[in-house]
Formats: sequence, C-alpha cells, structure tokens
Amino acid sequence: MVCIVFSFIIKSFMYYTLLVFHSAIRWFVLATLIYAIFTAYRGLYRKEAFTPKANAIRHWTATIAHLQLLIGMVVYGQSPVVLSQSFSSPDAIVNEQIFFRYIHISMMLLAIVLITIGSAKAKRMKEDRMKYQTMLRWFVAALVIIFVAIPWPFSPLAWRPYLRTF
Ligand code: HEM
Repeated sequence: MVCIVFSFIIKSFMYYTLLVFHSAIRWFVLATLIYAIFTAYRGLYRKEAFTPKANAIRHWTATIAHLQLLIGMVVYGQSPVVLSQSFSSPDAIVNEQIFFRYIHISMMLLAIVLITIGSAKAKRMKEDRMKYQTMLRWFVAALVIIFVAIPWPFSPLAWRPYLRTF
C-alpha cells in the first residue's frame, strides 16, 4: 500500500515537473523560431551570405522544437486530461480532453515535422539565397500552426497559464 502511494506521488511529481518545463519551453520554441524567421528574412532581402551564426540559429531552432516534442510525448502519456474517461469543459468550443488528446498533439507534430524538413532542406541547399528562403517558408508555416495550437489564456480552444510555476 505504501509502495503504491509512494509511486503515485513520484509519478504525479514527475508529470507536474515536466508540465512546468513544457509550459516554459514554449517561450524558447517561439523565441528561436521568430529569431530564425527574422534572420532568414534579413539574409534573403539583404542578399547576405549564409553565415555559421545563421546555420547555428537554424540548428538550435530545430533542436529546441525536438526537445519540446520529447517532453510533450512524456506529458501526453501521463496527463490526467488525456487519460481521463470523462472530462468536460462546458464553456469552451472544444472539449479540453479532445483538444489535448487529438488537436494539440497532431498540430504540434505537424509543426515540428515542418521545422525538421525546413531545417534539413535549408542545410542541403547549395545557394545561400535558397537556404534563407527555405528556412523562411517552412519556419513561418510552423510558427502559424504552433501559435494556433498553444493553449493560450485567450485561446477559444483550451486555456492554460502563460507560465506554469511550482
Ligand atoms: C512546439 C511544440 C509544443 C508547444 C509549444 C506546446 C505547448 C504547450 C503548452 C503551453 C501547454 C500548457 C502547459 C500548462 O499546462 O501550463 C501544453 C500542454 C500539453 N501539451 Fe504541448 N506543446 C507542444 C508540443 C506537444 C506535443 C508534441 C505533445 C504530445 C506528444 C504535447 C502534449 C501536451 C499535453 C498532453 C498537454 C496538456 C497536459 C495537461 O494539462 O495535463 N505537446 N503544451
């Protein structure tokens, strides 16, 4: 009995800790993505060379998105919202459980696939102009999807705080 209670406490603590990280890393995902888009736009229109700094920005944007994906997958497997059999949110357009079980995960997966493809394609392009253009197009598409799929306090789909704390 003590073991069961103890393992429940550990699991809940782990879930909540990861949720706090998942909430905070969203800001890093957004910041790196916006900075990468800005870098690509500036590089493209000023006809700049694709510098090692631009390449590092491309790389780290994709890496931070992948980290968020990993944490999201663990949170998904433990979330009471996802796992619960009955969950109602009467004021929302979409039931919160449906949002996190299907909408959030599929949109975020799509966005991270777009970031991954964009980053890989940009890396392989020969011309610097094409590198910037590829980064710009794929990252802008991902940013739009991520922005819609985040449960902002003002979102009509599901609400969560701007930053979750312990
Ligand atoms: C760029 C990618 C992602 C971003 C920016 C993002 C952002 C967020 C944010 C801001 C929250 C609210 C956190 C809170 O409650 O304070 C959240 C919740 C959640 N996310 Fe993500 N997420 C991403 C990807 C994913 C992925 C890929 C999955 C699943 C594989 C996932 C699963 C979840 C789940 C299950 C919750 C709700 C947890 C709960 O309330 O129990 N997320 N996400």
